[in-house]
Amino acid sequence: MRAENILIVGGAGYIGSYVNKELNRAGYKTIVVDNLSRGDERTVVAGTFIEGDLADKEFLNRLFTEHTFDAVIHLAAFLDVGESVREPAKYYQNNVANTLNLLNAMVAHQVKNFIFSSSAAIFGNPQQDAINEDHPKAPINPYGRTKLMVEEILSDYDRSDALRSSCLRYFNAAGGDPEGEIKNHTKKQSNLIPLALEKLLTEDPTITVFGNDYDTPDGTCIRDYIHIHDLATAHRLAMENLLSGGPSTRYNLGIGRGFSVKEVLDAVEKVTGKTLNIIEGPRREGDPPRLIADATLARKELGWKPIYDDLEVIIADAWKGFN
Ligand code: UFG
Repeated sequence: MRAENILIVGGAGYIGSYVNKELNRAGYKTIVVDNLSRGDERTVVAGTFIEGDLADKEFLNRLFTEHTFDAVIHLAAFLDVGESVREPAKYYQNNVANTLNLLNAMVAHQVKNFIFSSSAAIFGNPQQDAINEDHPKAPINPYGRTKLMVEEILSDYDRSDALRSSCLRYFNAAGGDPEGEIKNHTKKQSNLIPLALEKLLTEDPTITVFGNDYDTPDGTCIRDYIHIHDLATAHRLAMENLLSGGPSTRYNLGIGRGFSVKEVLDAVEKVTGKTLNIIEGPRREGDPPRLIADATLARKELGWKPIYDDLEVIIADAWKGFN
C-alpha cells in the first residue's frame, strides 16, 4: 500500500471519478471532494467521499486541517463553452476564484503538489495541424480564458515556491469506464459522443451536425478524442513526477489523430446497433475545423503511453456508462 494521500476535487464528475478509481487501483488513498452540482456520488467507487464546495473557505480550512495530503488533483470546473459566453461571471467565479481558494488553502497548509485540469481551449484557433505546448495561447471564449488564467496563476505560485503544478490540457475527453462500473450520471450532456448516446435512449434520437462546409475531407469538424483511461494514466504519471520532486510541467493530452463529426456519428450507430436521426445544421460559433494534439512531450517526459486509439472502442466504453 502506498503512503500517499491524494485529494481529488471534482472527483464525482465524468473524468474525476475515473481518475479516482485508477489512483485507488494504483494503491493511493484518496479523498474525493465534490459539490455535486454536476457530479454524482454514485460515481465515487473507491476512496472517501466528502461533499463540499470550493467557495466555502471554512470548509477548505477544516478539510486541510483534518487531513494530510501529498497532492491535490483539481477537476472541479464548469466546462460548457457556450454557457461561459452567456454567463461569464459564473465561470470566473467557479473556475478562477474558487480555484484560488483551493490554492491558498494548500499554501496555508504546506501542500505543495497540484495537478490541474486544463484544456485545449487555451489555444483558441489553431495555427498549425498538431498543437504542441508552445502553440500561442489565445483563448476565444471565457471558458478557455479561465483555464489560461489559472495556468498563469500557477506559474506565479511556482516562481514564488508556493507550490509546483502540472497543467494537463485535455483535448476531447471521451470513452468511459472499460469495466462499466462507473455509470454516466452527468447532469447536463454537452459533448458530441455522450449527447448522441443519450439521444439513442430517447424517443427522438435526433442530433444536429454543426456545420458540413468546413475545409475537412467530409466537411465536418475534426477532433482528437482521448479515452478517460489514458487521461487518468497521465494524471497519475504527472502527479508521481511532482511527488518525486520534479519541476512544474504542462502537457497537451490527445492521441494525435482526429475523427470528424460524421465519423463519430457513424461509429456511434455501428457500436450501438441503433440509428440516429442526423440533421445537418449551421456551424456552431467558435468551433475550429481541426483540433489535434501533439502529445510528444507527455510521452517523452512522463513515459505516457495512451492505449486507446480505436474510436469504436472509445464509444463502446462510453456506451457502457449508459447501460
Ligand atoms: N457537435 C455537433 N453536434 C452536437 C454537438 C457537437 O456537431 O450536438 C460537434 C461540434 O461542433 C464539434 C464536435 O462535435 O465540432 C465536438 O464537439 P464537443 O462539444 O463534443 O467538443 P468541443 O470540441 O467543442 O470541446 C471540447 C471540450 C471543451 C474543450 C474543447 C477543447 O468539450 O471543454 O474540447 O478545445 F474546451
